[in-house]
Amino acid sequence: MLDLLVRNATLPDGRTRMSIAIQDGRIIEVAEGLAAPAHETLDAHGLLVSPPFVDAHFHLDSALTYGQPRVNASGTLLEGIALWGELKPTLTHDAIVQRALQYCDMAVARGLLAIRSHVDTSHPSLLPVQALLEVKQRVAPYLDLQLVAFPQDGLLRTPDGLHNLQRALDLGVDVVGGIPHFERTYAQGTESIKLLCELAAERGKRVDMHCDESDDPHSRHVETLAFQTQRLGLHGRVTGSHLTSMHSMDNYYVSKLIPLMAEAGLGVVANPLINITLQGRHDTYPKRRGMTRVPELLAAGLTVAFGQDCVMDPWYSGGSADMLEVAHMGLHVGQMSSQAAMRQCFDAVTVNPAKLLGLEHYGLVPGAHADFLLLHACNPADAIRLRAARLGVWRRGKRLASSPAPVVQLHLPGRPGGVNFI
Ligand code: FE2
Repeated sequence: MLDLLVRNATLPDGRTRMSIAIQDGRIIEVAEGLAAPAHETLDAHGLLVSPPFVDAHFHLDSALTYGQPRVNASGTLLEGIALWGELKPTLTHDAIVQRALQYCDMAVARGLLAIRSHVDTSHPSLLPVQALLEVKQRVAPYLDLQLVAFPQDGLLRTPDGLHNLQRALDLGVDVVGGIPHFERTYAQGTESIKLLCELAAERGKRVDMHCDESDDPHSRHVETLAFQTQRLGLHGRVTGSHLTSMHSMDNYYVSKLIPLMAEAGLGVVANPLINITLQGRHDTYPKRRGMTRVPELLAAGLTVAFGQDCVMDPWYSGGSADMLEVAHMGLHVGQMSSQAAMRQCFDAVTVNPAKLLGLEHYGLVPGAHADFLLLHACNPADAIRLRAARLGVWRRGKRLASSPAPVVQLHLPGRPGGVNFI
């Protein structure tokens, strides 16, 4: 007797009338029209059943602090960093924990069940690290939280920056972060990448670095990141986040760079909502979009994910843990409007970030965890178009969240009494 049988599901790869058999928190079979006795049967009515959303890039320590102590007047990355510096002395362990838990509630409601969050390691107290390690433990029954040791104020620019980051890893932070474009000089940025990649190699860690988050076409730290990855044999374990300078780089140089990134097996995270908001702030017109070259990187075989990055914090006043909103923006900014490209945008918030995080047993395949969503959409493109309601969210075969279908009552002469958008 199965625990749960999902019937009549459409899967992201286009297969229809599919059944998913679930036992002991695992998927044991995925087949068309499967019928088997089960304690519970769920009829998907032909709607899309997807693996859960994964956010490859977030900042849980600063989330939901918008307006504290003031808002970012210029809207730039640099004012955001300065503003976060003003806020940090006022932070408390409990306040960080409570905000993070509140955000994770929103995430689960949106079907977002795995988050890679950077955590600021600049201050020797490591207050945000201690708080998010507690949160990681508390949310573990329902959400995978992976933490990146992030030297927000610069690894070499901050007194004891490297030592503080190493202490964060000692405490249990999972991934090595960095911010080479914020070091005092280009040379120090280069040096920071070397130090951090060597640290990751020594400790057997993954790397995820904020890299070239600027409009400067000559900011080329990603070249160094690819080199150090290849030199140290870290292939498949290193991610470059943002890479917005690639938007502004010379095309000839990029024609050399992308194959080097592919050779190193770099992962890439674009953060469409933030990139389109922060980049191009020094432009008059035309204003650059600033998102990295997503279609070109995908075409070269790199794994590209879209991240949320910020929600209601010193850098961004919007967001609600909705990875379909992120994919929607990525689709538009990247002009990824073909059927195939829209599907790629869906992968960029599901399977691709799962790969970058190294999530095990992810996906709708036999042997995987029974983690899945029922979306009010018929296919991935429609899910993005509608920012589809998450009708149900399951983890390990247990329902974590439910939402009603968004049906609007209409009162129009000679027209149907309602519309449900699909
Ligand atoms: Fe970030």
